[in-house]
Amino acid sequence: MGLQRVVRSCIVDAPIERVWAVLRDFNSHDQWHTVVAQSEIEDNKTSDRVGCVRNFTLGDGNHIREMLLSLSDKDHISTYTIIDATVPLMRYVATVTLKPVTDGNRTFWHWSSSFEAPPGMERELRDMVAHGVYEAGFANLKKYLALGQTASRQSSFARPLTTSAQAIEAPAIRLRDYGQPSEMRLETVSVLPPAAGEVRIRQTAIGVNYFDVYLRKGWIPEFLPLPGTPGMEAAGEVIDVGPDVTSLLPGDRVVYMCPMPGAYASVRNVPVSFITRIPAGVDEQTAAALLLKGVTADYLIRDLGHIRSGTRLLVHAAAGGVGQLVCAWAASMGAVVIGTVSTPDKARVARDHGCAHVIVTGNYQFSQAVQSICGGVDVLIDGLGNAARDDNFASLARCGHWISLGQASGPLQDISPDWLVQKSLSFSRPVAFDYVATQDQLNERAARVWQALQTGVIKTPDIQKFALRDAALAHEKLESRTSVGSMVLLAS
Ligand SMILES: NC(=O)c1ccc[n+]([C@@H]2O[C@H](COP(=O)([O-])OP(=O)(O)OC[C@H]3O[C@@H](n4cnc5c(N)ncnc54)[C@H](OP(=O)(O)O)[C@@H]3O)[C@@H](O)[C@H]2O)c1
Repeated sequence: MGLQRVVRSCIVDAPIERVWAVLRDFNSHDQWHTVVAQSEIEDNKTSDRVGCVRNFTLGDGNHIREMLLSLSDKDHISTYTIIDATVPLMRYVATVTLKPVTDGNRTFWHWSSSFEAPPGMERELRDMVAHGVYEAGFANLKKYLALGQTASRQSSFARPLTTSAQAIEAPAIRLRDYGQPSEMRLETVSVLPPAAGEVRIRQTAIGVNYFDVYLRKGWIPEFLPLPGTPGMEAAGEVIDVGPDVTSLLPGDRVVYMCPMPGAYASVRNVPVSFITRIPAGVDEQTAAALLLKGVTADYLIRDLGHIRSGTRLLVHAAAGGVGQLVCAWAASMGAVVIGTVSTPDKARVARDHGCAHVIVTGNYQFSQAVQSICGGVDVLIDGLGNAARDDNFASLARCGHWISLGQASGPLQDISPDWLVQKSLSFSRPVAFDYVATQDQLNERAARVWQALQTGVIKTPDIQKFALRDAALAHEKLESRTSVGSMVLLAS
């Protein structure tokens, strides 16, 4: 049996980042290649993990299992091999390589393979791979990329991909005075065409975060000058892109977290560097409920808390948005997780999300219980602020790390070095946006969040939903201490 070779190439009329975004996803073929009816990655692995196995059901009823052998985002190359198939392709190894075409936003795509075939079937199988798989794949992917543009051109907010786009009138929450939730009112605003480096997004789900409450109250006015629109994260569909944007196209499903507020809106322009794609299998509401809180859990556990097996960890508001994620993730790493909550119902939720010990307290009295459970904690994740200040100090073990995440009960007062030195404590005051300062960092942290979701390390969050116009009700709920899990506003 001789080794058969098939080599095909084409030019795609799209920038390399765009083509690679589809091809690097080892599980994307059933979305764009007509030969593949269904694609599934086995064993809950992510589709960019070398060694993962995809299981194809082809349109003609055949089955193929292929393993990813290598994936290079730097060189835009992936290789894979067939490990099992009902078609007689033996020792099949294929390589996909992309190169940018330097005369514009186009991409050279090279697809090659070698394999063995049973005697007499060489030509038939070479033709099948060359035409049925590779040539058809080129045509299908070009159609798929073009469809993204066409679909959005037909949508109600559509415009062609030119700089002559119009402003769009769309509903958004406006805050004209700091204060009560009722200060947030729905108005119609004009959203200009995206500037260089931006895309315009039709948002479907907007994540509500406790930080939005601080801004609404006017605690950090430099962050949200008036009149302004609150909100730091949302998910939706790109409807058009700014002049120099090549990595996203209309029709792409995206989610972002952005340090400039403005997310409580149905249409918004966002700089590309704050945006990441939503993977297949994650819906937009889950993405908006998870991104900022999941990224926060990721940096708390990995970068600041250095959580490992046996770490004694105290998490306040353990049934809340961030709380649920931190508890579940840290417990999966073997930490001894202690949570505080204000009601027995929330205690059940916290236990469900990995809390080994739950302290029910509505008035920030928890240090005695902490001391009797574990003699003091190594890491404290504190979103409560001033009312819990003294009990937090009393709950920490020697050399403990106090991570002051937020201040739901009011701004934290007087943390002096002379106080901390009594127990050799360290103190951190982090902000999530500093941990995703580049788009690569955002993509990397987001990928870990999606993977934790896919593998069941964290559960799909409990999501409470409100219409965009009811943003005030969502804030009332959040501040009433009756919410559980995450909240999203639905914009369309
Ligand atoms: N720095 C960062 O990077 C970062 C990022 C994300 C979030 N955060 C902070 O993390 C914390 C959690 O945020 P989240 O969005 O997930 O909110 P959340 O935990 O879902 O909601 C807040 C929870 O805080 C508890 N709480 C205690 N005292 C409260 C009070 N006086 N008023 C209102 N709530 C009170 C309540 O739980 P119980 O009733 O069970 O006590 C309440 O359900 C917040 O402090 C937020 O600012 C910081």
